[in-house]
Amino acid sequence: MGNMSGLLRKVEQAVQAAGEIIINNNEKPRTIRYKGRNDLVTDTDLAVEEELKSRLSRLLPEAVFLAEETAGDAALGDLAWVIDPVDGTTNFAHGLPMVATSVGLWKCGKIVLGVVNLPLLGELFSAERNGGATMNGNTIRVSAIGKIEQSLVATGFPYTIEENLDEVLAQLKAVLPATQGIRRPGAAALDLAYVACGRYEGFYERGLKPWDTCAGVLLVEEAGGLVSRYDENPYALGDNNILATNGVIHAELGSLIRGCCPA
Ligand code: IPD
Ligand code: CA
Ligand code: CA
Repeated sequence: MGNMSGLLRKVEQAVQAAGEIIINNNEKPRTIRYKGRNDLVTDTDLAVEEELKSRLSRLLPEAVFLAEETAGDAALGDLAWVIDPVDGTTNFAHGLPMVATSVGLWKCGKIVLGVVNLPLLGELFSAERNGGATMNGNTIRVSAIGKIEQSLVATGFPYTIEENLDEVLAQLKAVLPATQGIRRPGAAALDLAYVACGRYEGFYERGLKPWDTCAGVLLVEEAGGLVSRYDENPYALGDNNILATNGVIHAELGSLIRGCCPA
């Protein structure tokens, strides 16, 4: 596969080119379809995914795609691009700028590259396994805050909220009074990138898919953070729940979100 850093630069370029579609379409009316009661897809999701598939297949013709809109059930195999073209579709539909494109590269059981682009916020996050993580080219590290009461925590709510409402509310009840606050920006890839660059001390969510987390998990790990399941066992792509922190508050946040409702 050759030089990984060289490949990362090309992936960044591909993701930024696809980001131009989001920037241009942000000025236009949306065409929205519903995958579920509250699960939307716009023409932009489809256009960005097509653009990425076309550009990334030129970089690694042998890689398969696990991509939300057109290849959501694909097997990862030995080499796969894992793509969420628009993470934060509900935000995009409502004109909010917290919208990400997430591209990860899976190789023989590991995430080896990750790019999260926030085209409407002008922030590009990248990571390479054992090569660190950057934001707009500058090295990033997780926050050093170790006190839970000084921690800002992000979370998200699954589309299957009817099934998960009790757990979600119990966790808010446990985490809100223990921390400086909770944020719910509406884009899991952004949440993970923001843990990586030290804006949040932690993030937790149930029900995410591999394309939501693939790039962001590598960002957090390469920025010195910790990613696990709620039960603090190692997180594997596709696991049903994720806890990502700066490492320092991991056990304390883990026990808060487990204490109210066992995983
Ligand atoms: C969603 C966002 C959201 C999270 C949902 C995801 P989508 O992705 O990441 O923050 O709470 O669970 O499905 O549908 O906008 O790509
Ligand atoms: Ca998503
Ligand atoms: Ca999406």
